[in-house]
Amino acid sequence: MLSVALFAVLSTLAAASPAKVNVVRERNNVSPFVSPSGLNLTYSSKYNSSLPNVVIMATGGTIAGSGAGAASSGVYSAGAIGVEALIQAVPDMLNISNIYGYQIANVGSPSINSTIQLAIAKAANAILCAPGSVTDGVVVTHGTDTLEETAFFLDLTVNCGKPVVIVGAMRPATAYSADGPANLLQAVTAAASPLSKDRGALITMNDRVGSAWYTQKTHVNYLDTFKAPEPGYLGGFFNNELFYYNSPATPTFKKTFNVNNLTSLPRVDIVYGQQEFDGRLLEAALAFGDVKGLVIASPNGGVGADAAIARVAGRIPVVRHVRINVGMIAPSERVPTGNATISSGLVNNQKSRIQLMLALGTGADPRETFEEPLRSILYGK
Ligand code: SIN
Repeated sequence: MLSVALFAVLSTLAAASPAKVNVVRERNNVSPFVSPSGLNLTYSSKYNSSLPNVVIMATGGTIAGSGAGAASSGVYSAGAIGVEALIQAVPDMLNISNIYGYQIANVGSPSINSTIQLAIAKAANAILCAPGSVTDGVVVTHGTDTLEETAFFLDLTVNCGKPVVIVGAMRPATAYSADGPANLLQAVTAAASPLSKDRGALITMNDRVGSAWYTQKTHVNYLDTFKAPEPGYLGGFFNNELFYYNSPATPTFKKTFNVNNLTSLPRVDIVYGQQEFDGRLLEAALAFGDVKGLVIASPNGGVGADAAIARVAGRIPVVRHVRINVGMIAPSERVPTGNATISSGLVNNQKSRIQLMLALGTGADPRETFEEPLRSILYGK
């Protein structure tokens, strides 16, 4: 449950307009950095005119987590430490960039919702993309459990070429094996670097850089959990120095959305299927009334499922992926029973949910959103 105070911060932020700017609260009063109206920056470093400017937006998660002791790496409270403490724990960042901190939320990532995601996207657009912006990059600190969803959301909604880097940690700040400080240093290094431009939103974890479009969490416990199983990483860090394998590129299937005027997004749920899947949970979801779209994470079909799917897909958009979460789903006209549903293509279940919410919220056609890139890349039409 979001606190009243957090809602107050978010509604102030929702009113932020890129056109109105405030001079940020400074320690030495000479930085050219300006903060969009309504953004209450909680930390700014001593300004060094020879360095780039990076804004860290903190949302909570394990990177800001606190455990019972240094040996406690798996049992702890996420979102216990504020942005100022996160920054002060990694003083080397201040040799790489001027740092501005913004506490946008302080929650475990299962509590991140589309209100917070819209707030981050609007703030990032205002800070990075407004004319005259002197900000070189944005870092978002986030719990890892749903990090890939927010990263994908930002990849689709912040697109002026400047780096947006999402980072988390698998161990709380209090653990012997805390990975947050190194991950944060690397995230700031990536956000401050011109090498990171025009690559979309990035995820930096465990010495690797991945595209937010492709990268997903693959293991519950271990540090090397963020991977892009088919396309692989974009680059990495050697001795904390950033490198990329190739020059910048955009994921071929990527669609973008302008959310700057949105204050909410429609609800989309995911229904999981298994042997004996008959689609009745889809009908149950529809019966709630507030569900405006569905994603099916299922084996392909099931006894009785096709009829239920067709009934529900006649009422709201239903995107079809499979529960394996990696791989290509054929466009609907190639699937005998697929016409009622929308093919996810390469977009996994949790990212399909984000993309369907964005399509519905911005008035884009859901089928075109998912299937037009698929057809154009597979068949050239
Ligand atoms: C969370 O996602 O907020 C907790 C788990 C993590 O950050 O690794």
